Amino acid sequence: MSYYSKIIGTGKGLPEKIMTNKEFESFIETSDEWIRTRTGISQRHIANTEKGESTLSLARLASLNALEKAAISAQDIDLIIVGTVTPESVMPTTANSLQRDLGAVNAFSFDLQAACSGFLYGLSIADQYIRSGTIKTALVVGAETLSTLVDWQNRSTCVLFGDAAGAAILTRSEDRSHSILSTRVYSDGTRGDLLKIPHGYAACPPWRADYSPSEHKIKMQGSEIFKLAVRNMIDASMKVLEDNHLKIEEVDFFIFHQANIRIIEMCVKTLNVPANKTWLNVDKYGNTSAATLPICLDEAWRAGAIKSGDKVLMTTFGGGITWGATLIQL
Ligand SMILES: CC(C)(COP(=O)(O)OP(=O)(O)OC[C@H]1O[C@@H](n2cnc3c(N)ncnc32)[C@H](O)[C@@H]1OP(=O)(O)O)[C@@H](O)C(=O)NCCC(=O)NCCS
Repeated sequence: MSYYSKIIGTGKGLPEKIMTNKEFESFIETSDEWIRTRTGISQRHIANTEKGESTLSLARLASLNALEKAAISAQDIDLIIVGTVTPESVMPTTANSLQRDLGAVNAFSFDLQAACSGFLYGLSIADQYIRSGTIKTALVVGAETLSTLVDWQNRSTCVLFGDAAGAAILTRSEDRSHSILSTRVYSDGTRGDLLKIPHGYAACPPWRADYSPSEHKIKMQGSEIFKLAVRNMIDASMKVLEDNHLKIEEVDFFIFHQANIRIIEMCVKTLNVPANKTWLNVDKYGNTSAATLPICLDEAWRAGAIKSGDKVLMTTFGGGITWGATLIQL
C-alpha cells in the first residue's frame, strides 16, 4: 500500500502593528515611491516583542488557525517542524515550545534552518515521514521575526522584510490525487555570502572582545540575489513539472516566494503563467521568509482562488542559499 500526504488545513499569524513605507522616511534616506516601484511593497507587519509578539506567538496563532481548518486536535499531531532563522530560543527549539503551547503531547518536534525555504524544506521532510508510514499527521510551520535581525540603518535591506507565520497540516492518505505530488529542494553553500547573517553563536560568541552586533544582521548583495532567485525558482518549477510529466498550462495555480514583485513578474513572464493564476501579497507583508508560502496557500485557499483537486505549484528561494519547488494537488 502507498501512502501520500494530504494538506488538510492551513493558517496564518500576523503581528498587529503595520509599518508603512512612509515611516522609513523619518530615519533613512528613502521614499514610499522608491520602495513601491523597486519592490512592490507598501507595508509590512512588525512584531512588538515588548507586548509578547514573537516567532513563537505568531507560530502559535498560525497553528491554531490551521488546526481549526483541519478540524483535528493538537493531540493528533505526530510531528511538528518549524522553519525559522529567528527562533524563539536556541533551546528549547521554537517547535518544542509550540508543542508545549498547543498541548501536542504525542508529537516530536524540531526547528529547521533554511531561510526563506524553511517551510518548503519542512514540507518535504514531513512528506517523507508520512510516505514511509512512520507518522500519520504533521504540522509544518514557517515563522519569522526578521525585524529582529535587519539592520534598521541599511536602506537596501530593512525595507524588504516583515514578521509573520504560516502553517500547514498534512495527514496520511491513500489517494494520490489529493496529495503532495512531488517536491524538490536545493542548496548552494558556495553562494552563501550573497545573503547571510554571518554570526550565529559559534562564529563569535557575544562575550568575545571582537564581538560586533552588526555581524548578527542580514547582509545581502541585492542584484545578485535577484537574478539567482528568478533563475532558481524557474529551474525548480520546471523540475517538479517534469517529475510529474505536466506542462505549465496543466497547473491550476502558482505561488511564488514573495520577496519582490519584480522577481515574481519575471518568473510569471518566463514561465508564461496567466496573471490570474498567482497569489500576490508582497505589497501587504513584504518578505516574510519561511512564512511566505504557507500564508499565500492559506489566503488563496480561504479566498476560493484554489479549491479541492487543484494542482498548485509553489516555489521559493532563500538565503544561504536555498531554493525549491513543490507540486501539490489539494
Ligand atoms: C534590494 C533591491 C530592491 C534593490 O533594488 P535595485 O534596483 O537592485 O537597486 P540597487 O541595489 O541597484 O541600488 C540602486 C540604488 O538604490 C539605492 N537604494 C537601495 N535601497 C534603497 C531604498 N530603500 N531607498 C532608496 N534608495 C535605495 C542604492 O543605495 C543604490 O544607490 P546608489 O546607486 O547611489 O549606490 C533588489 O536588488 C532586490 O529586491 N533584490 C533581491 C532581494 C531579495 O529578494 N532578497 C530576499 C531573497 S529571499
